[in-house]
Amino acid sequence: MTSSIEITVPQVPENVPFERLVEILLAAFAFQDDIVDPPSSAKSVTVSELQWRFARDSLFLAIDPSGKVVGQIWVEDIGKDAYLYKLSVDPAIKGGGIGKALVETACDFAAKRGKEKMRLHVRVELEDNIAFFRSRGFEIAGEGIHDGYDRPTFWKMARDLIVD
Ligand SMILES: CC(C)(COP(=O)(O)OP(=O)(O)OC[C@H]1O[C@@H](n2cnc3c(N)ncnc32)[C@H](O)[C@@H]1OP(=O)(O)O)[C@@H](O)C(=O)NCCC(=O)NCCS
Repeated sequence: MTSSIEITVPQVPENVPFERLVEILLAAFAFQDDIVDPPSSAKSVTVSELQWRFARDSLFLAIDPSGKVVGQIWVEDIGKDAYLYKLSVDPAIKGGGIGKALVETACDFAAKRGKEKMRLHVRVELEDNIAFFRSRGFEIAGEGIHDGYDRPTFWKMARDLIVD
């Protein structure tokens, strides 16, 4: 599957299919309804949110052979480390190695820019996602609490970045 997937890094907003990215996010995160508390911020994502994020952060797109965008990952520069978010793959082709390829591309990108660690947040309820990130070399490095909650609601995970 991944051998036929291309990962691209759009440089200008004209090359970003923002509506399609919103569509993938809504579809990919739908399974979390009734599982995570509070609800995922991905549920309220808009084109205008992605537009300002594109002006600030780095975006990687997974493209299938027909040219259709089937996955995305965003990377924010947070100083000595980088932070990945909004990783999502079209549910129709989940499990085909695209998520893994996007994470590895994002980590390579950050490592080449001298970042020490890739960081991310994952909800405590999402055991499969935690397992996915562990399989990619991430470890739990702390916990976080959403405003208004009195228990950990997300784990902070981190992976050391190594330059080849
Ligand atoms: C999470 C997500 C991005 C993964 O993308 P994907 O293309 O489906 O995943 P891949 O096929 O690349 O991942 C497979 C790898 O993950 C690991 N993995 C996935 N689920 C796992 C699980 N439940 N337990 C253990 N390992 C798991 C496997 O070990 C596999 O590695 P392998 O090829 O070495 O066997 C995708 O499922 C998705 O979009 N989910 C919804 C959105 C979301 O939850 N995003 C993350 C927010 S924190």
